[in-house]
Amino acid sequence: MNQITLSKPLDMHLHLRDGQMLETVAPLSANSFAGAVIMPNLVPPVDSLEKCLSYRERIISACAANNFEPYMTLFFKNYAEKELAAAKPHIIGIKLYPDGITTNSQGGVKAIEDAEPTIELMQELGIPLLVHGETADFVMDREEKFLSVYQQIAKKFPRLHIVMEHITTRHAVALLDRFENLFATVTLHHLLITLDDVAGGMLNPHLFCKPIAKRPEDRDALLEAALSAHPKLSFGSDSAPHPQSKKECCGCAAGVFTAPIALPILAALFDRHGKLDNLQSFVSGNAVRNYRINPPEKEVALVKEPSLIPEKYGDVVPMWAGQEISWRLVS
Ligand code: DOR
Ligand code: ZN
Repeated sequence: MNQITLSKPLDMHLHLRDGQMLETVAPLSANSFAGAVIMPNLVPPVDSLEKCLSYRERIISACAANNFEPYMTLFFKNYAEKELAAAKPHIIGIKLYPDGITTNSQGGVKAIEDAEPTIELMQELGIPLLVHGETADFVMDREEKFLSVYQQIAKKFPRLHIVMEHITTRHAVALLDRFENLFATVTLHHLLITLDDVAGGMLNPHLFCKPIAKRPEDRDALLEAALSAHPKLSFGSDSAPHPQSKKECCGCAAGVFTAPIALPILAALFDRHGKLDNLQSFVSGNAVRNYRINPPEKEVALVKEPSLIPEKYGDVVPMWAGQEISWRLVS
């Protein structure tokens, strides 16, 4: 196949920021995707219905005429039942960050036990829990060590829809099949790179993110699950724009910017493995079914023709800037 048309492609984990950065990056996502799950880690975080609704308006206006559904999330804190019930029709879930674990996660959860009253309410109201699953252990072990927390929540709240966001290890993939209520997203970069690409040679700050890329056998397990369109796994780019000056410096911010190039690179990847037929499920079908959502109609066509990844989008350097890839979006 030399071309593919994707129906309602979705990015189930996206950072759009606010202000000028939002104006730069939101139209790029709207150009490729019918909708995206919007992360709430602004400064200050999106932690009330009022903030959520006004952020949603700013996103929609930044996308101008392009039909794009921002599936909003709230930043996890302890919420009263009344607040949760009022927010429910406007959000796809609540995003839990362990305190200080990544960019703008200050004020997150310090001990999972403290979060249980709100998690219980979420289960009762049917609000999904989206989780950045890392502990504060040695950086390569952080996700692995968090897996016991996922198991604890999955067992204690069997009717809660739990999403392990941006999984990076083969053990997280394996956990998907052990608990009915556990789902996951995986990024583009974690399907492609290992720690070697980040720090094995010259340091590449544009591939530095949290969770950090892991070992080849982890990348291979993620890739196998994605290529086979594992029914509980969805694409979530975790595209996380930072200005060039915050990446190419001492104290580089975590985040890989991939939103505008994700679909062509995914098409090339699935094509190379003879799995293009599974791309629709991975970038849309699984999410639509698991979240029971109905994204706006949007068809996105891709062709197998070489294209160059731009050096920059505004002030943001994308993954693989300046490199040639074998597929492109049909504009
Ligand atoms: O690398 C990351 N960047 N990981 C996250 O969890 C947050 C994100 C960001 O907001 O920049
Ligand atoms: Zn993220």
